[in-house]
Amino acid sequence: MNIQWYPGHMTKTRRMIVDQIKNVDAVCEIIDARIPVSSRNPDVDELTAGKPRLVVLNRVDQADPEATRLWAAHFRKLGYAVLESDAKDGIGTGKFAGAIRELLAEKLRAYAEKGQVGRVVRVMILGIPNVGKSTFINKVAGRKTAKTEDRPGVTRSKQWVPIDRGLELLDTPGILWPKFEDQSVGLNLAYTGAVKDDILDIETLGCHLMTYLSSHYPDALKQGYKLSALPEREDEENEVAYGYRLLEAAGRKRGFLISGGEVDTERMAKILLDEFRGAKLGRFTLELPQ
Ligand code: G4P
Repeated sequence: MNIQWYPGHMTKTRRMIVDQIKNVDAVCEIIDARIPVSSRNPDVDELTAGKPRLVVLNRVDQADPEATRLWAAHFRKLGYAVLESDAKDGIGTGKFAGAIRELLAEKLRAYAEKGQVGRVVRVMILGIPNVGKSTFINKVAGRKTAKTEDRPGVTRSKQWVPIDRGLELLDTPGILWPKFEDQSVGLNLAYTGAVKDDILDIETLGCHLMTYLSSHYPDALKQGYKLSALPEREDEENEVAYGYRLLEAAGRKRGFLISGGEVDTERMAKILLDEFRGAKLGRFTLELPQ
């Protein structure tokens, strides 16, 4: 797999986190509910050690609701506060302030005891690209655009975005690069569109996704492509070869034929990825808690 790595980018984010961590009371990590492992950068643990943490399972509208329930329980067990959200439609985002206050309840009580009632709570948002950070910040803050990019020539100081009278967000989310620890992480990030499609050719990507869906969500696959049954996987048949046969079966049903009656599997792969990303085949989660 042709995976790009951006050491400069990571260094910049690390520096921002190290600089700012002392100014925040809590860290909010936004992850993709469809791929809660692949969309986390494990460096966050070390970089934010000791800070109370809120994990936002975003994109719940696209994820398998049962799997989201398991993930929420898993992260709560690890001691994190958890918020489920569909930032695009602003679902769950209204609970952000309450979740942060609950997470910091002890600290807030201590402030109150010391008479520091009006003390503002500050939160840093972190997440990998495309997970929905800007959308989430905009919804929580009730504004239209989050300036997430540093543009050359534009000097901006760090700003705090007010959420309410006692709560502020660091306006620039920390953009972390995912960690490609094994092939499945790269594949998951490519399926969801978190990394560019050129990571693998689209047809191979489609083959892997087809095989995954056939074993975890066979009914949705049958229904989505009007297949009465899925072809049997042969002994020893590898993922790509089997996925290719599934692409052929689905493409034939959709009428994606090229000369000689062959199926245009590349076109089918593109459609499959589009439909997966748009949750048109159903709501799928690609990783479950161990
Ligand atoms: P980032 O800052 O983390 O890089 O992500 P950003 O907010 O830019 O979101 C990336 C894309 O994901 C956007 O779509 C956004 O609308 C969409 N998105 C964010 N949160 C959710 C969610 O909870 N559910 C769904 N379904 N989508 C979400 P886009 O196609 O780039 O833009 P647009 O078509 O929404 O304008």
